[in-house]
Amino acid sequence: MIDLIKKLPKAELHLHIEGTLEPELMLELAQRNSIDIPYSTVEDIEKAYNFTDLQSFLDIYYEGASVLIKEEDFYSLTWEYLLKCKENNIVHTEIFFDPQTHTQRGIPFYTVIKGITEALNDAKDELGITSQLIMCFLRHLSQEECFKTLNEAIEFKHDIIGIGLDSSEIGNPPSKFKEVFKKAREEGFKIVAHAGEEADCSYIVEALDLLKVERIDHGVQVINSKSLIERLIKEQIPLTVCPNSNIELKVFESYKKHNIKELLDLGLNVTVNSDDPAYFKGYLNQNFINIYKNLNLSKEDIVKLVRNSFNASFIDEELKKIYLEKVDKILESF
Ligand code: ADE
Ligand code: ZN
Repeated sequence: MIDLIKKLPKAELHLHIEGTLEPELMLELAQRNSIDIPYSTVEDIEKAYNFTDLQSFLDIYYEGASVLIKEEDFYSLTWEYLLKCKENNIVHTEIFFDPQTHTQRGIPFYTVIKGITEALNDAKDELGITSQLIMCFLRHLSQEECFKTLNEAIEFKHDIIGIGLDSSEIGNPPSKFKEVFKKAREEGFKIVAHAGEEADCSYIVEALDLLKVERIDHGVQVINSKSLIERLIKEQIPLTVCPNSNIELKVFESYKKHNIKELLDLGLNVTVNSDDPAYFKGYLNQNFINIYKNLNLSKEDIVKLVRNSFNASFIDEELKKIYLEKVDKILESF
């Protein structure tokens, strides 16, 4: 089964590019850009990755991102993730980026998007990996700040397929951003949002009703509302679940207590993703392996999760069909 997990082509739909910053690259960029970080070795950094909840992670994650200054830094960050995609057999990836993490430090929007998109274009040519970019608003900031960021993004519309919402969830509900998402929809962006990661089901309902999301990022708290489960099944709204993240951020006590298998068995449209793999002990295959080992997943479960990843993606129907055929081809040999 582990061999099957590794060999199946997969799509990743919930991945923060800033969350792929490996300790080695963090140290290298800190030195190259003369940025002070409170670590001098990889071991120092790994010791600090001991999270108690989402906020305890975000504090360290934003500090890590402070070493990203130049276009080439964003290129290196993205290229290293794309090499991991190759290793993990991720053939299509929909990447979140958080421009406000950088523009708030005085880095131009253009620097961020140019570095990332150059790497994505090279990956298409050299590695055969297709990709889309989703720009996230930081929900701990004001809606007014998000309007400014959206206005900057419009110029790069051709490079950005969608708009998402991330950062500190509790206390920053989707309703806080209703107007800016309305404008994003009018501009033709697809909409997703982190909801029901730590906060209750009302955040998922608001994301659906007020932001009009096409996918829910995380969404594992749906388990507490029977009516919402029924709605998500009926509408087949995809959930981009991130098992390693949920364990590292103490959303669940252990892999054995994770509810992804329960959600799948209920008929929800669930996918597996790595969220911030450099911080959460593993890339996509490791997420699959952890849930496979601890939750008694069958071959059918794995295949369903992989097929869901393509079906829930923003790629066109033609390419979707090509990828799903590649999945079938691998299955023939198992
Ligand atoms: N930013 C990066 N990872 C995140 C997560 N899991 N939840 C909210 N914001 C994030
Ligand atoms: Zn996330």
